[in-house]
Amino acid sequence: MTRPLAAALGLWVLLVGVHIHGRAQEAPRLPGAPLGGITPLEFAEFRLGLDDFTEVETAEEGLGPAFNGTSCAVCHNVPTIGGGGVILEVRAGYRDSGGRTRGLNEAGDTLIHMLSIPSHSCQPLIPDDVTVIARRAPIPLFGAGLVEAIPDETLLALADPDDRDRDGVSGRAAIVVDVATGARRVGRFGWKAQHATLLAFGADAYRNEMGITNDLFPSELAFGISDAQMRHCDPIPDPEDRPDPATRRRGIDNFESFMKFLAPAARARVDADALAGERTFAAVGCAACHVPSLMTGSSRHPLFDRRPVPLFSDLLLHDIGTGDGIEQAAAAASEIRTPALWGLRFRRPLLHDGSAATIADAILRHRGEAETARRGFERLSPEDREALLAFLRSL
Ligand code: HEC
Ligand code: HEC
Repeated sequence: MTRPLAAALGLWVLLVGVHIHGRAQEAPRLPGAPLGGITPLEFAEFRLGLDDFTEVETAEEGLGPAFNGTSCAVCHNVPTIGGGGVILEVRAGYRDSGGRTRGLNEAGDTLIHMLSIPSHSCQPLIPDDVTVIARRAPIPLFGAGLVEAIPDETLLALADPDDRDRDGVSGRAAIVVDVATGARRVGRFGWKAQHATLLAFGADAYRNEMGITNDLFPSELAFGISDAQMRHCDPIPDPEDRPDPATRRRGIDNFESFMKFLAPAARARVDADALAGERTFAAVGCAACHVPSLMTGSSRHPLFDRRPVPLFSDLLLHDIGTGDGIEQAAAAASEIRTPALWGLRFRRPLLHDGSAATIADAILRHRGEAETARRGFERLSPEDREALLAFLRSL
């Protein structure tokens, strides 16, 4: 081949390559795939987990007596299995005249189930004297394994509970006791950062959302239903997701594998506007809480070993004036964990209770610790504001 021909061919290949590359970037790249580079064995675990996450359970398998969904995927399905969703969960409690809040019973339970299995005689009532009713939107699970691998120390180092640096932002690490190990950990999953691990969250969700007890959460939870009623409504012996010493737990170990290996949503194509918007995001102080990237710790597993996690969150608890009046784990009634913003373009409605329809609505609701950042947003020129929103839409 002559040199000019080779060069022309090279250029052609380059152009076609750029074209295909460009197209591939413009096509809506749906999340839902496993992390790149997992081994065939891990892929098999991921698939098994996906099957279980999607599997519709029945009363015979332990569903209920009261529950919120028949499978994990019922609520985690936008834009694909493992995502968020539009079914809001209900919590309730009391706030007294002094502003103090408490749960529905001594144990502090606040979850109200929306559904029940036939004969429907174990459907909890919302007591008529509650003073707080809160709703919670599902949180997408894309990239959750990387979030789990961020060391506690990283989050503790970001925390500034007494606002010593006087920037008005005082994130608090949610110290929780991990149900599986008994260890004190920094919670990071859930709107209240109520769990530190995917195993614990999945086990809690299996019991809370589906009424399927397991060895980490061995007793049914259905507020106001007595033990005697419960034996009648759901005669299946607890724990319903029985550990099999020879293998894995049918449900909760499989959920863990699925969530752990679920890849984050890739970013959409970034244009000049979005790049400028990213600088504005930092300049007005959004990045104080929506920290652009954290790192996983050192791990023997190469996929989790010192990897960047571009999640746009510090995973800390903040009071930005949107608190839901529910105390839970380490979180006060006024506190909500900073949500990650990766995959934001797939997520509506916004905020913990789904009360914001647009990104701008969500930003304009920021007060308290985020007062300065919100004012910064309000003061932006129309062009800068548009660039900031373009950046957020690219996530
Ligand atoms: C009825 C709807 C519903 C069902 C069913 C459901 N979830 Fe969720 N999920 C939610 C809601 C709502 C939240 C946020 C809850 C909160 O923070 O209090 C959530 C949050 C989560 C989180 C935290 C993610 C994060 O990054 O913070 C995990 C993990 C999770 N769910 C796993 C599961 C698993 C596993 C199942 C099945 C066993 C399941 N969910 C079933 C609604 C549901
Ligand atoms: C002091 C910490 C803090 C600062 C500063 C902050 N945020 Fe937030 N942000 C939060 C918290 C906490 C929530 C969740 C509030 C809720 O759901 O009630 C949130 C929610 C959001 C959401 C909705 C995400 C979702 O999944 O529902 C968006 C979008 C957002 N913030 C963007 C921004 C932008 C843009 C800025 C800068 C103008 C900013 N935030 C500044 C803490 C902060």
